[in-house]
Amino acid sequence: MNILGIETSCDEAGLAFMRDGRLVAQALSSHADVCAQHGGVLPEVVAREHMRVLPHLAQKMFMDNSLKWSDVDAVAVTSGPGLISSLLIGCGFARGLSRSLRCPLVGINHLRAHVLVARMENDVRYPFIALLISGGHTALYRVNAPDQFDVLGQTYDDALGEAFDKVARLLGIPYPGGARLEALAREGKELLPFPKPLLNRDSLDFSFSGLKASIARYVEQHTLTDELRENIAYSFQESVAEVVAKKVYKAFEQNSDAHSVVLTGGVAANTRLRQAVRERLPENVPLCCPSPKFCTDNGVMIAWAAHELYRCTSLQRDFDVVAHPNMPL
Ligand code: KG4
Ligand code: ZN
Repeated sequence: MNILGIETSCDEAGLAFMRDGRLVAQALSSHADVCAQHGGVLPEVVAREHMRVLPHLAQKMFMDNSLKWSDVDAVAVTSGPGLISSLLIGCGFARGLSRSLRCPLVGINHLRAHVLVARMENDVRYPFIALLISGGHTALYRVNAPDQFDVLGQTYDDALGEAFDKVARLLGIPYPGGARLEALAREGKELLPFPKPLLNRDSLDFSFSGLKASIARYVEQHTLTDELRENIAYSFQESVAEVVAKKVYKAFEQNSDAHSVVLTGGVAANTRLRQAVRERLPENVPLCCPSPKFCTDNGVMIAWAAHELYRCTSLQRDFDVVAHPNMPL
């Protein structure tokens, strides 16, 4: 079965063509540069960019890979959660394609897709524990099947990627600053005493706004030298790493029938966080992270999620997929 996956929930326009679960072609257009000029994601600007690039991106992916439109058996699109203006562009584009190609249209939950894509490259068996850490979401799940997720914990306030981006901004790094903050942190030598939110609570929930606020206060009270910027980045990342590693460990302890642990979402590209979680888990528990390019938003995860869902009976094929900005899990 050939599935065309489409992702436009935030500031990346992603496409993928998948044949029976094998990736055949992919294309991605990031609007991060445009967003950086505005200091963050401006929904109307991003929606206009999606509208502009999507048809060309699709046409180019088909031509470069000698694909035929008539080979598409189903169109899968992110229907939520995400920015409503961005989702509407992707859903409208997908609906137009499915109508004209006379094939089913499938709405995919963006959060589930981030998690399920870990199974594309790795042997991850159900049930497993997944930590989703992205720009818009932070949650711990127990995943029993492609369509059966239990929420074990989530953030009360900022998503972890959002906290990385805000701290990066305080240090003068343009949006999205996560990856550059990680690079800066590698140079840090001195640990500053920043809070480790909810570290010793029993719950598996997270909170990052207090940590971000305490760094904002610290930055206000000090003159930022290069060395201090490095130490702030390092200390922020270490606080986060300790919290994340402990919560993942606890989640695994409470679900010891889980076969493995998955770290996914844009922030899972962070090597230090991966290392901290690895060190905390028992050696015999596999830790799987999608390749960095599949951790951040992309069309491949949407096509893969549709592939997985097609194999289980509960998949809804809906010609009237509706964009749902606050779509629950
Ligand atoms: O999953 P994603 O592409 O978008 C959402 O669905 O939100 O995640 C983007 C987030 C941004 O906040 C970005 O700064 C962060 O992932 N990020 C990182 C790293 N690479 C990307 N954060 C920390 N370390 C990284 N290496
Ligand atoms: Zn995402």
